[in-house]
Amino acid sequence: MRQNIVAGNWKMNKTVQEGVELAKDINSRVEAIDPKCQIILGTPFVHITEVVKTVKSDKIAVAAQNCADKVSGAYTGEVSAAMVKSTGAKYVILGHSERRAYYGENNAILKEKTDLALANDLLPIFCVGEVLSERESNKHFDVVKSQIEEALFHLSAEAFGKIVLAYEPVWAIGTGKTASPAQAQEIHAFIRGLVAGKYGKEVANNVSILYGGSCNAKNAKELFSNPDVDGGLIGGASLKAEDFLSIITAF
Ligand code: 13P
Repeated sequence: MRQNIVAGNWKMNKTVQEGVELAKDINSRVEAIDPKCQIILGTPFVHITEVVKTVKSDKIAVAAQNCADKVSGAYTGEVSAAMVKSTGAKYVILGHSERRAYYGENNAILKEKTDLALANDLLPIFCVGEVLSERESNKHFDVVKSQIEEALFHLSAEAFGKIVLAYEPVWAIGTGKTASPAQAQEIHAFIRGLVAGKYGKEVANNVSILYGGSCNAKNAKELFSNPDVDGGLIGGASLKAEDFLSIITAF
């Protein structure tokens, strides 16, 4: 179901204790308002159980930032989708550009991860986006198209309906450079059109497409006011309750 979403991606930041403090702070601020969006906290694996216990607001869900592409067994250091599910997390971020760039995750691996996440009743927040050279050579539409087609378009319409998409131009992540509202709208509309071409208009109208990349309190309102931008996936600005809340209240 299409909904407005503000999701924080904490990346590799905060100890468990610091994470619990942040979650507590966000929870009490959220309970004091009436947020017009679903809020998601994407925490490191080791934080999830504690953060799930900490958040009381039914507007806040918890996400893992990754899961394994294998079911179980001798894969030292990996965390399976079933394990993530057993923590109480509801969502899992998949295909983040940092996973693609630093850990060799390609579309084939992400297809496996998506299938395992869905088989374990986790809702994937599936990230796509181009690097600067691809944007500059006008290849961003093709890049995003193949990322989505190769990892997701084997899904049935029903399974695809559980996916949240996040467009994160790599050149905007952590750089302070944001896609302009017009650039975001252009590619979000392209993505929705791609989904419509494969699954039909109803499925396309129901998918939430988030923008990520230096989204902050100052630019969130303008970005979120675009018809095809359904919220944000927030890195740096999700690490302080006050900043994160000002993005939540941009809706
Ligand atoms: P920043 O908001 O820090 O640019 O990070 C965006 C991001 O990668 C969220 O997944």
